[in-house]
Amino acid sequence: MRKQKVHIKSFGCQMNKLDTEMVTAAFARAGFELIDSYEDSDIVLINTCSVREHAETKVFSHLGRLKHLKKSNPELVVGVIGCMAQRLGSELLNHDVVDIVCGPAQIPQIVDMVREAIGTKQKKIRVKEKIREKNSDAETQALENFESVYDKGDKRIPGQAFVRAMRGCNNFCTYCIVPYVRGPEISRPHQAIIDQIKRLADEGTKLVTLLGQTVNSYEYKAGDKTYCLADLLEMASEVDGIEWVRFVTSYPTQKYFEQIMNTMADIENVCNYLHMPAQSGSDRILKAMNRHYTSGEYLGLIDKARTIVPDISIAGDFIVGFPSETEEDFQQSVELVKKAQYRNAFVFKYSPRPGTTSEKRLADDIDAETKKRRNVELLAVQEKISEKLSEEFLNKKVKILVEGLSKKPHLNKADHQGNPQLIGRTAEDYIVVFNGPTELAGNFTTVKITKTSPLTLFGEMI
Ligand code: SAH
Ligand code: SF4
Ligand code: F3S
Repeated sequence: MRKQKVHIKSFGCQMNKLDTEMVTAAFARAGFELIDSYEDSDIVLINTCSVREHAETKVFSHLGRLKHLKKSNPELVVGVIGCMAQRLGSELLNHDVVDIVCGPAQIPQIVDMVREAIGTKQKKIRVKEKIREKNSDAETQALENFESVYDKGDKRIPGQAFVRAMRGCNNFCTYCIVPYVRGPEISRPHQAIIDQIKRLADEGTKLVTLLGQTVNSYEYKAGDKTYCLADLLEMASEVDGIEWVRFVTSYPTQKYFEQIMNTMADIENVCNYLHMPAQSGSDRILKAMNRHYTSGEYLGLIDKARTIVPDISIAGDFIVGFPSETEEDFQQSVELVKKAQYRNAFVFKYSPRPGTTSEKRLADDIDAETKKRRNVELLAVQEKISEKLSEEFLNKKVKILVEGLSKKPHLNKADHQGNPQLIGRTAEDYIVVFNGPTELAGNFTTVKITKTSPLTLFGEMI
């Protein structure tokens, strides 16, 4: 029998990409063929994100494109999985082209759902009805089993893999949809995580990134001991073959902070990289966001991180145009960016998400123009800082993990030996572009930096 062809597209965060990898692994094991283009596929799956309206709009336009495909191939099965599936449920199922809707908690059932849909033309939906209710033991076990089918490393980036440390979130920042689509926070058993990392290392993984919405609050009780992220980092770094360990994202809090920073300082394999969103520099706005810190406390953590790990590279997230944000509030975000000296900052325009506290209680009163201006201004302030920090790398030798061919043409496309342009990353998450043999993908190499830009370093292999 001809193998059914599946195409999976991911529209979301790292957590979402990890789910895509797991789903890919599950389909491959079930005998399906995974393909890169949706035009020739029998099954198209879209893994979706609800964090901002824009993320959802992109999915709807993709579904629109699939209409034509479905006309020419009426047998095509289209499935929507991930956070939008959980948020919109039957609304999505009613869309012309959609056959399957499957939420993040039901993901272990996706292969069966697709099998049932093939040839039957019946629409199928599985989402969690009460998403804030704790999963049953059986559901948790199904998710754990599904998690463990994934052990081949991230296929798109050789040598690297994401590993989930925690599911869900309990923080309820007022703007955020994640707790409503990913459910309550739960830490995975430390042993399951370490076993998974061992299998990944056996398959050639050298860098693991531990994932959690607030990964620094990881806590797992086993016997008399409570394992925290620092313990996980230490155990992961000891796995044979694992050379770098990273973690994202950290919530600004004192708890475990010093311990985690000390682990970073003491263990060479733990990358000197911290992604810790601030969201705003205004204490009034932080309070309205239900973030449990002031800008002063946030900066205190940044100072502590730099005292313990002097060459740490820090990234942050900001939201501009949160309801009632005045020019003065915004300038406090500008000040915070200047003081924090991030390597990189991600800036988002506030997008009201249906059902969240800020959407229900606060008017989206900052006009699009102002949001855009603040976004551009904050990014410009950050760009100057990134530029200055990048320049410090000039003429230095850096160790990088090579990812593969560079998608964007940068300097010279090929050097005199005909080597193409490759891209890799430093432990601090700097992108490095250089010419080298493609076989280097998935391996470490050393590059001398010859040119810098705010977010990218350019260099030559040594
Ligand atoms: N768990 C992570 C962030 C997850 S969402 C954390 O707490 O740090 C990633 C980023 O998207 C957030 O840091 C925030 O900056 C942004 N974001 C989340 N909800 C948003 C919304 N409704 N509008 C605009 N940006 C949002
Ligand atoms: Fe959303 Fe806040 Fe949880 Fe991050 S910590 S996922 S921003 S609710
Ligand atoms: Fe990630 Fe978007 Fe869901 S940020 S957890 S895919 S809402």
